[in-house]
Amino acid sequence: MIDKKEILKAYQFRHACKLFDPEKIISDEDFSFIIETARLSPSSLGLEPWHFIEVQNKELRSKLKEGAWGATLKLETASHFVVCLTLKSSYMKYDSPYVADFMKNVQHHPEEVAQARRKMMENFQTRDFDLTDERKIFDWASKQCYIALGNMLTTAAMLGIDSCPIEGFNRETTDKILKNDFGVDTDKYGISYMIAFGYRANNPGPKTRRPIEKILTWKK
Ligand SMILES: Cc1cc2nc3c(=O)[nH]c(=O)nc-3n(C[C@H](O)[C@H](O)[C@H](O)COP(=O)(O)O)c2cc1C
Repeated sequence: MIDKKEILKAYQFRHACKLFDPEKIISDEDFSFIIETARLSPSSLGLEPWHFIEVQNKELRSKLKEGAWGATLKLETASHFVVCLTLKSSYMKYDSPYVADFMKNVQHHPEEVAQARRKMMENFQTRDFDLTDERKIFDWASKQCYIALGNMLTTAAMLGIDSCPIEGFNRETTDKILKNDFGVDTDKYGISYMIAFGYRANNPGPKTRRPIEKILTWKK
């Protein structure tokens, strides 16, 4: 087991890093390790609605700045810069060919099991969670991708690597850039978030968080 103190140390170490030291580069091994913890992340029905693009190319990083007001300094200084794409509703709806293929070829469900799971998924999407339009389904899929986000941030911190999650971008502008400059199929994917990874240029200020009593209620 990992020492509890070490785990908390990583959580204290992690902060939203605003400026990275551009001279310090994450090793391939460490970056692959971070992505491995995204890959192993849980997702609703195990459908893994994510795809990650790591942007090393300087011109493409500049392009992203046009839509990403919250990422300017990070795009200029981060060692690694990840864009997380999420599958759109025509892929994530219970009756999509993607779901059928995924259940068969990734999850290896026999046809009768896949059928039962699709029925359960139909009830879940249409009745229980009201996932009844394209945006609602996309946002549900996007929520799954944020689990991978949390895992990557924590893994990075455990390796002594800094990071910043980024939602500071215009979705429409960024989706257009992804389509035109990155060649992303935007009928298939939309953007969820970006993450910058690297090593801090400055030390962060003290963490502000509410005390535990304010966020946890026991019902005994
Ligand atoms: C989903 C998400 C999106 C965020 N977007 C941005 C962003 O665009 N730019 C930025 O500088 N920080 C961004 N942050 C960082 C938060 O402001 C930061 O996590 C929060 O203030 C708590 O501070 P800490 O992470 O340093 O503990 C984002 C955080 C999350 C979780």
